[in-house]
Amino acid sequence: MLKIDGLVSGYGSVQILNGANMKVDAQSIVALLGGNGTGKSTILKACSGLIRSWSGSINFDGEDIHNNPPHKIVERGLVQVTQGKDVFPAMSVIENLRLGGFVLNSKQKLKDNLEKVFDYFPRLNERKNQLAATLSGGELQMLCIGRGLMSNPKMIMLDEPSAALAPQIVLDIFKNINRIRKDGLTVLVVEQNVRMALLLADYGYVIKDGVIKVEGESKKLMYDDTVKDSYLGGGGTTANV
Ligand SMILES: Nc1ncnc2c1ncn2[C@@H]1O[C@H](COP(=O)(O)OP(=O)(O)O)[C@@H](O)[C@H]1O
Ligand SMILES: [Mg+2]
Repeated sequence: MLKIDGLVSGYGSVQILNGANMKVDAQSIVALLGGNGTGKSTILKACSGLIRSWSGSINFDGEDIHNNPPHKIVERGLVQVTQGKDVFPAMSVIENLRLGGFVLNSKQKLKDNLEKVFDYFPRLNERKNQLAATLSGGELQMLCIGRGLMSNPKMIMLDEPSAALAPQIVLDIFKNINRIRKDGLTVLVVEQNVRMALLLADYGYVIKDGVIKVEGESKKLMYDDTVKDSYLGGGGTTANV
């Protein structure tokens, strides 16, 4: 579904990605793991067209999307969900969701998608007329994911959906991510919560210094010495490379 080859990108003249290679199969959940500042969000931003890629290729669903404008990439079915930054705090939950469906050209589709999102996250339905600014951290994350789903994507990329949330809420959100995949979507999830991410994902990549250092099936990565030493040591769930 998504294939990244030799991706080089950065900010201004500072190169961050030094030739990253990744592949996400259709209807799989893939985890992209790594410490702070290693380039995880930068990969997602290059895929969704928010920053330019300097060289390399990004193929999505059989087409080269490298350096397409962001709205074109959303129209093609690839959506990025960032950490709470996609929503307008002064607008209600339902208004934010409707904005997420901006590429849809039918009222019926918008209505159907709203129902689908409320089915995943009943809490959003209960709070649909509340301003986004008044939501709890978990509800805000649900709104961000819901907003991403409103455009009927084939694939969503989630940037640290578990950040700063209580374990019970993380579990709820991860269950929903699994359900989203069962319903036919492909998921790329960036996580610092390595243990949880490997439980959720089929396959994982570990990035360091802008290149993929380790990859493999999640079950194998859990027992991989590099991953264990760097991320799973001391019972911690937070990456600290
Ligand atoms: N908008 C930006 N302008 C300049 N540098 C940035 C910007 N965003 C991120 N960086 C730098 O790029 C590197 C990788 O960042 P990022 O991809 O956000 O890391 P991660 O998501 O893995 O924590 C960091 O050194 C960070 O400081
Ligand atoms: Mg990040």
